Amino acid sequence: MTHQTLVLRNAKIFDGKGNAPYEGDIGITKDRITSVGTVPGNSDREIDLNGLAVAPGFIDVHTHDDFAAILHPDMSFKAMGGVTSCVVGNCGMGAAPCPQAALLARAFHPHAVLPDWSGYNGYLNYIDSHSPSINIGALAGHGTIRMAVMGNEARTPTADEMGHMKKLLQEGLEAGVLGLSSGLIYDPGRHADTDELIELASIMEGTGALYTTHMRNEGTELLQSLEEAIQIGQSAGVGIQISHHKAAGRKSWGLVKESLKLIEDAQQRNIDVHADQYPYTAGSTILSATIQQGGLDREGGGLGDMDAEGIVLASTESHQEWEGQSIAELATSFGQSPQETAEAILAQEPGATVVLHSMDEDDVQTVMQHPSTMIGSDGIPTLEGKPHPRLYGSFARVLGHYSRDLGLFKLETAIHKMTGLSARKFGLTDRGELHQGTFADLVVFDQNSIVDKGTFADPNHYPEGIHHLFVNGVQVINEGEHTGARSGRSLRRSLAIA
Ligand code: ZN
Ligand code: CU
Repeated sequence: MTHQTLVLRNAKIFDGKGNAPYEGDIGITKDRITSVGTVPGNSDREIDLNGLAVAPGFIDVHTHDDFAAILHPDMSFKAMGGVTSCVVGNCGMGAAPCPQAALLARAFHPHAVLPDWSGYNGYLNYIDSHSPSINIGALAGHGTIRMAVMGNEARTPTADEMGHMKKLLQEGLEAGVLGLSSGLIYDPGRHADTDELIELASIMEGTGALYTTHMRNEGTELLQSLEEAIQIGQSAGVGIQISHHKAAGRKSWGLVKESLKLIEDAQQRNIDVHADQYPYTAGSTILSATIQQGGLDREGGGLGDMDAEGIVLASTESHQEWEGQSIAELATSFGQSPQETAEAILAQEPGATVVLHSMDEDDVQTVMQHPSTMIGSDGIPTLEGKPHPRLYGSFARVLGHYSRDLGLFKLETAIHKMTGLSARKFGLTDRGELHQGTFADLVVFDQNSIVDKGTFADPNHYPEGIHHLFVNGVQVINEGEHTGARSGRSLRRSLAIA
């Protein structure tokens, strides 16, 4: 038997595939799991876990950490919550081409100085040469690509422009991006019609890359938007991932029962469609999109109907006194209407982010229980200010609050929704499952005490109950403390398949 680098003894092992846990030891050699079950001695180091749970490290399939992975390479806000891999580039917003991607970076990291890189190959190479603490896989962003070719033009692309967009996506595919994301409520993605998205996505056919989408409308037109997403994936011949599946705005509450049915029907027709979800009744985005989508209009647009009480300032560049206050409260102190107030804020803080209280708890639970749903935080990594607490707590909240305390599903099911299901959907080979031969991306936690600690009023807290974290066999969290280790890698589709 080969010499092992590390043995974890007396673990309660969750395999990530949804099977019931079992007791055993886990042997690790370098970056891989080399034995599971009864593991004999002969190793550099042993840790006795005394029955703590061990699972594949959580995979956050919905993040906006493209630049955070470079600016905050310890990635504490994810690692401390049990995450070993992030998928960046969601909602149409990607890390390349560089000048256009920098627009997004400026909204989330206003004071940051970022390096330049060329295309997705440059971005993923940068990740590999500077190693964040966790793994990073990337989606190409339709919005970023469109911006690079046609600016914010509200029209269909010419044949030349389409050819240029395809070239930019092709560069990403060759570099190993996991798919193409769209953000159809945002500039410039909202100007794209269904055919444009089909044509662009169709160059991914046969590659295993998928189409992920922040749909055009998550309010009263949720079902039509879902049909469009399925049509795009089906016509292009690629898998589909519905981002942050929800029914937003009081008028659309309950619609998720029908949207889940549409997903089931499509799956029965052999269409590869799934969704991700963050475990909260509030969303979060940029204030400018909220206003542009008629967020203060009783009719509601793509974000659903909301009121000024439900839109709360999260992070600003230099107006901390506004953070944590609703547009209704700010309107009172400004002595203006909510609409005027929002416009006045945007004039000074064009990148301001907001938390949107727009969902029904029953809907959140209905979506979470569905087998098509995996967990993705959609956290916005504005570490100053008051970001939505999903940035830190999404995975601990599903395990502690929803699985253990409310009993929505078994712990092994909850873990499957953040590991095995996610890895399979995004093509992350040898990750997301715990057995001999997979990468040693592991989280060790106490299933009796794991809990998210951040609240909307006071979000910047790591969850409790996470003891250890290993990324590619290297210990990143030890007894709840970050070790400073940076053993993350880029996760590229071509390498994942090889
Ligand atoms: Zn989104
Ligand atoms: Cu998102």
